[in-house]
Amino acid sequence: MSSQKDLLSDHAYDGIQEYDNPLPGWWKWLFVLTCIFSVVYWVYFHSGVDGRGIHAEYDRHVAQVMLERFGDIGVLEATEEQLLAAMYDPEFDKYLKVGESTFKTNCVQCHGVAGEGGVGPNMTDDHYKTIKELTDIVRVIENGAANGAMPPWKTRFSHPNVTILTAAYVAKMRGTNVAGGKSPEGTVIPPWPKYVPQPKDN
Ligand code: HEC
Repeated sequence: MSSQKDLLSDHAYDGIQEYDNPLPGWWKWLFVLTCIFSVVYWVYFHSGVDGRGIHAEYDRHVAQVMLERFGDIGVLEATEEQLLAAMYDPEFDKYLKVGESTFKTNCVQCHGVAGEGGVGPNMTDDHYKTIKELTDIVRVIENGAANGAMPPWKTRFSHPNVTILTAAYVAKMRGTNVAGGKSPEGTVIPPWPKYVPQPKDN
């Protein structure tokens, strides 16, 4: 028992003495390793580097799923008929979500969450600065306007369909006349053409 006596720590609380019972070496090393791991983890995921972390990962997954789905609709063309179909054909509803999320990611800081305007013009009224017809929206999104005050997006989107679907989403904001929006800029243009559903092949 004497060896146990040696292990007694030299203090007592309320008359209770305790053994000096160190944690096993493997336990302490495990602790040290988790500390080191936490630093590495923090630096990798939380140091503000773009494209890391669960949000970026989620975005990549959504983009990936949408890209795969794009196979079903092929490459959309920047024609009036195509834009009208994207706006009004119920089959495009789920794809318009791509336009919506693109707008919410890239455009709201200048055009407002509902398109009510800010740095950029209000897109919920009937006035437009450089848009005369539907297809102009695609052109402005691709090439920008006013010497880059409206930035060009041509090379920034992962797929040409993204531009078309964003244009359709923007075009649909017309006439929503969001309360408290920016005062009209430019001139009133004719209404968007009427959508005439094309007979389906199948
Ligand atoms: C940095 C600010 C900024 C961002 C970001 C931005 N825009 Fe613009 N946008 C503008 C400005 C400023 C104009 C007006 C240009 C002009 O004077 O002709 C404009 C004009 C437009 C127009 C034409 C409106 C009109 O009245 O003729 C469309 C359509 C448009 N933007 C769509 C978008 C879309 C879609 C996005 C996101 C992919 C976007 N913008 C992102 C600033 C921005």
